[in-house]
Amino acid sequence: MANNEELFKQIIAHAKEYGFIFPSSEIYDGLSAVYDYGQNGVELKNNIKQYWWKAMVQYHENIVGLDSAIFMHPTIWKASGHVDAFNDPLIDNKDSKKRYRADVLIEDHIQKIEDKIDKEIEKAKKRFNNFDETLYRQTNTRVVQYQAQVDDIRTRFAELMNNNDLAGLKALIEELGIVCPISGTRNWTDVRQFNLMFATKLGSVSDGADTIYLRPETAQGIFVNFLNIYKTGRMKLPFGIAQIGKAFRNEIVARQFIFRMREFEQMEMQFFVKPGEELKWFEYWKQTRLQWHKDLGIPAENYRFHDHEKLAHYANAATDIEFKFPFGFKELEGIHSRTNFDLSQHEKYSGKKLRYFDPEVNENYVPYVIETSIGVDRMFLAVFSHAFTEETLEDGSTRTVLRLPAKLAPYKVAVLPLVKKDGLPEIGQEVFDMLKKDFMVQYEDKDAIGRRYRRQDAIGTPFCVTIDNQTKEDNTVTVRERDTMAQYRLPIADLTVELMKKLR
Ligand code: GAP
Repeated sequence: MANNEELFKQIIAHAKEYGFIFPSSEIYDGLSAVYDYGQNGVELKNNIKQYWWKAMVQYHENIVGLDSAIFMHPTIWKASGHVDAFNDPLIDNKDSKKRYRADVLIEDHIQKIEDKIDKEIEKAKKRFNNFDETLYRQTNTRVVQYQAQVDDIRTRFAELMNNNDLAGLKALIEELGIVCPISGTRNWTDVRQFNLMFATKLGSVSDGADTIYLRPETAQGIFVNFLNIYKTGRMKLPFGIAQIGKAFRNEIVARQFIFRMREFEQMEMQFFVKPGEELKWFEYWKQTRLQWHKDLGIPAENYRFHDHEKLAHYANAATDIEFKFPFGFKELEGIHSRTNFDLSQHEKYSGKKLRYFDPEVNENYVPYVIETSIGVDRMFLAVFSHAFTEETLEDGSTRTVLRLPAKLAPYKVAVLPLVKKDGLPEIGQEVFDMLKKDFMVQYEDKDAIGRRYRRQDAIGTPFCVTIDNQTKEDNTVTVRERDTMAQYRLPIADLTVELMKKLR
């Protein structure tokens, strides 16, 4: 059984080998933290976006879509606070000349202590029957000590971050004895702030042209279109605006594959509500979004909420849905109650009223907002890493299978003539032409059938349809299921309906 680091490497290699994800500009040695989605990756990514869009826009009569531009007026980013405060604390090691995020160095240190706790618990689980984890955490001296360390560091760390205390962050790094993973030394520079927005110039001549930014989130495109959509869509509170689109952040340390990228995609929805009703809706969206994840069939123990104790100055509630990635529980999606901060800021900076007229109270007011925000790429990594499985079969052979939720699989069906002769490819082509109207279908007639099944397992195709000599006699085919490897025969005429039933 591969350890988590090894497993993660295998997942990255698999994504490349089977045409899901390639490093960007690979023939020029790549571009750090930028990736391209290959022939199978783009299908999986599109299916994730469609699953989100359906759940958010199609299934909610009061949510509509938007596709706003990436370039926006630069004052938007002043109003939103990104120009002044969208920073990460940066630190360099003077010996290796490597750059790190000071907060990530501390988080990694905490993670190492938490890993020790997990190891102790794993050992104890093997030793004792009827193991009671809560009791063990409270009574085992080593675990209690480790936990106290974690709690202490976390409290001090949160305070330093909240107070923007850069000198304090450096002092904590030194006190914890954190070394540079490359040089192994503690020879650190001071911590400084680094703005994550990419800047460029608008216009064909850069001299004197205005600085504009590549958007670091899609949300602001929604806020600045609030009035347009409210008026033209005759919307009534509560209502939402949903958007999927690219976002860009000059991450200091972009790592863990597509978990933290410099160019990525977000699926965001801003839900506008009457002031005073925001916490009720916050709870609704918390549960609704978690259910969206669970509906994929990934077991519930892979998700948890992380409620924010310290809130941003404009928020009055915030939580993350965390997912158990191969490198531990990490944020997958954020749900925030953002009060009327963004709309009020845009009122102030644009001089335009961004108000809702409430006929019930005969009053104009700035609505409050609940935001749900998830990265498409991070969602891709969540489903892909969870789906990646290596199995040993009864005969001792192994197979790699991508147990993707069927609705997200790049291809739903593969049509495979058993041999490339005797008229079987011709029948296969007819079956392909019939199925392609309803499903993404792959046709393959090269290699032995066993190898073709393995290739389809590796890209997560839920069903293979095999054409053999019996097909010529009775117009039936063999259907082979990815997860169970069960095989059964079905008439060609019933295939579409039967596959549809199964895929639902
Ligand atoms: N509008 C709110 C917002 O952007 P965020 O927590 O910064 O909030 C929301 O980002 C989501 O976007 C995250 O939960 C994550 O899924 C995704 N995300 C953020 N930064 C990312 C990055 N550098 N690479 C990939 N996904 C990222």
